[in-house]
Amino acid sequence: MNKITIIGGGNLGKSIISGLASSNLFEAESITVVDKSKYNLKEIEENLGVSTSQNIIESIIDVEWIILCVQPRQLDSVLQEVKDVVTIDQVLISTVTGTSISEINEVIPENKVIRVMPNTGASKKLSMTCIAANDDVTEELTMVQKMFDTIGKTLVIEERLMQAATVLGASGIAFFLRFLRAMIQGGIQMGFHPHEAQIIAVQTAMGAATLVAENGTHPECEIDKVTTPQGCTIEGLNEMEHRGLSSSVIKGVMASYEKINTIK
Ligand SMILES: NC(=O)c1ccc[n+]([C@@H]2O[C@H](COP(=O)([O-])OP(=O)(O)OC[C@H]3O[C@@H](n4cnc5c(N)ncnc54)[C@H](OP(=O)(O)O)[C@@H]3O)[C@@H](O)[C@H]2O)c1
Repeated sequence: MNKITIIGGGNLGKSIISGLASSNLFEAESITVVDKSKYNLKEIEENLGVSTSQNIIESIIDVEWIILCVQPRQLDSVLQEVKDVVTIDQVLISTVTGTSISEINEVIPENKVIRVMPNTGASKKLSMTCIAANDDVTEELTMVQKMFDTIGKTLVIEERLMQAATVLGASGIAFFLRFLRAMIQGGIQMGFHPHEAQIIAVQTAMGAATLVAENGTHPECEIDKVTTPQGCTIEGLNEMEHRGLSSSVIKGVMASYEKINTIK
């Protein structure tokens, strides 16, 4: 049976551990989580039944998979700590934003590295996770896809698109939520109590996304179904577009993309 160690039991680490622990890919005792905080590890052990450790070196002995799940600024010290201990057959899976496969291979040259970019939907098993690897990594890529399928949907992409995946998928959560907030504010102005407006807007957003996801249709096709000629929906849609809705969203996505390409 495969063994796996997750270095970093923070927000994302916990979601990944929860998905893996409830899958049939690993026995709970084959999953080890490393974190600095004893309190955090105790909570993870109690809730998820996995092994925990505060010692990175001990925790990666004899494991096939190592997930790097620390903040970008913490990655270098973790890589420095493990670089003389990792064995060539161990696969490194990096969740770390903005660090390329070749940058990790500069420190640890012999090991296969797979990059993953999930989002916070992972905590509800609704992550969108984009995955990238070099061409010679195929079997391992399939296994990593299975791992991240336990916390949502996965898509294998070229590594050059990883920054774009971060904007569309990870920052995308914030972009959709800001639109949701605006819908709630509109609902309140029409007379709903905030909690009522939120229930209506949230369920409507889920319905809209599910229609497109399950019907496999283009959004405009589902929009046509609710747009009566001369009706209130087209009136509202056209007003939103006159005020630059689509243009603002595309410009916001591109501003985010330009920014991420300058961050290191
Ligand atoms: N959250 C997301 O939705 C998301 C999505 C895509 C990608 N990512 C990427 O995933 C990575 C993790 O994100 P996160 O939100 O889970 O971060 P986080 O909540 O800060 O978790 C990181 C954890 O790793 C621990 N840690 C740091 N250095 C360590 C070390 N040397 N040994 C053991 N444990 C160590 C931290 O402890 P301390 O807090 O005590 O330092 C913390 O508990 C980041 O690189 C982020 O860019 C996150």
